[in-house]
Amino acid sequence: MFQASLIVDRDYPLAPLDRRVFGVFVEHLGRCVYDGIHEPGHPTADALGFRGDVMALTRELGATLVRYPGGNFLSGYDWEDGVGPLVQRPRRLDLAWASTETNQVGTHEFMHWCRQVGAEPMFGVNLGTRGADEARRYLEYCNHPGGTALSERRRADGADAPFGIRLWCLGNEMDGPWQIGRKTPDEYGRLASETAKLMRWLDPSVELAACGSSAYDMPSYGVWEDRVLEHCFDEVDYLSLHSYFVKPPADSSTESFLAQIETNARYIEDTLAIADAVAARKRSRKRLMLSFDEWNVWYRARHGAHMRQPGWPEAPRLLEEVYTAEDALLIGGMLTMFMNHADRLKVACLAQLCNVIAPIMTEPGGPAWRQTIFHPFAQAARWARGEVLRPVIRSPGRLHPVHGELPHLCASVVDDPDTGRTAVFLLNRDLGEEMDLTLHLRGLGPARRLVLAEELHAADLHAANTLEAPDRVAPRDLVNLSIDGERLRARLKPASWNLIVTQTNRT
Ligand code: AHR
Repeated sequence: MFQASLIVDRDYPLAPLDRRVFGVFVEHLGRCVYDGIHEPGHPTADALGFRGDVMALTRELGATLVRYPGGNFLSGYDWEDGVGPLVQRPRRLDLAWASTETNQVGTHEFMHWCRQVGAEPMFGVNLGTRGADEARRYLEYCNHPGGTALSERRRADGADAPFGIRLWCLGNEMDGPWQIGRKTPDEYGRLASETAKLMRWLDPSVELAACGSSAYDMPSYGVWEDRVLEHCFDEVDYLSLHSYFVKPPADSSTESFLAQIETNARYIEDTLAIADAVAARKRSRKRLMLSFDEWNVWYRARHGAHMRQPGWPEAPRLLEEVYTAEDALLIGGMLTMFMNHADRLKVACLAQLCNVIAPIMTEPGGPAWRQTIFHPFAQAARWARGEVLRPVIRSPGRLHPVHGELPHLCASVVDDPDTGRTAVFLLNRDLGEEMDLTLHLRGLGPARRLVLAEELHAADLHAANTLEAPDRVAPRDLVNLSIDGERLRARLKPASWNLIVTQTNRT
């Protein structure tokens, strides 16, 4: 057993937590939409064909925001195909995923589903095969109250009130060679700027995210951000980051896998440095915020039939990654890191929601279940509310070739002055030893009582949840815990993710 401590003080807040960091992603890809969230023949399906069991799990997951409809799919998508009577909707070839798109789910159906799960939508406009004109037409269709051809068309299609979609992505991964309609940074930056201008003139309430690089290790990373922002800095609110975590073949250890928390922290900090350098060049006081709108573990289902299948199938099984206990630790650690960047990171979307690199899996006509990664996300989305406090961590660690000394303890603390609740998220990434943790919650009020203490730990790091054993990896009570005023002691298992929620009598 080793000793570690975590100190927070009410007088040292970082920033209010934007709960849109608990977003997810629904793309027309594989079985995410069709045979995923939408399966008209399923016993739990509602009148529009959306599965009730998946909606219930999405609410339990606590998704606050849902990005839609892609992804690579977005760059070949004609929004007009997804509105109007279902029987008139065209079947199309989707080049991004070599599939047939039936368009039985489109804007109206997705907005219905969002309302059912209580999540805010984040829509994308296609800047791959289309451009600024399509974007302004789509926005007018969605958000203009009425009295114009496009807004009246929406009303005739069944939505009398405007959808009021606030958050929009200006395209998707426009730097990627795999992207339909890939652009150079200057081409994209100009297009994003003009598209944003028209969208804002049409609806000043929109918030717009420009595409950053599609990964930190893209060869053009940095140059891309700089050039794109040179053109559109003044017109956009967010710059996007995407990251999929792998196990490098050269070092497949769990320790290196979990060090991707630091790699992604640097990705955030480097991207902010570039955005702030553009601001400095422009003598601008504006500070751009970040939208980490695709992130997850994804490396086992990245090849061959996982990616594309012959014959233009409908809803093929693509990217159906099976997650392990080890993956859940990384997801938990990433969430602590996100919270500790709450001053500039305002939006994040776990990619994706259902079946495709997803926390929720389904079988057609059968059950839906929670993958391992579901749990840390659901715990954080439920309990992280209020203000993030700056954590001071003292913990032994391990020397990493790139990042130097990495502490075994990763942690974040979020305090809600309205309820007097403080949520503490803790990852012990030492694989062999228990952590004897002392937690000082200074200035947060006396008479603390325990609301909840849970641990996510599996003796076998490769354990997964499956159709046959859906609850193999799930949170259990954390029992080795004591409270003494503002001081807590807890024993955290090796390789465990933990949540402790306490409450004062401040309210
Ligand atoms: O989430 C799967 C794919 O990953 C998305 O379509 C794309 O944006 C990214 O490359």
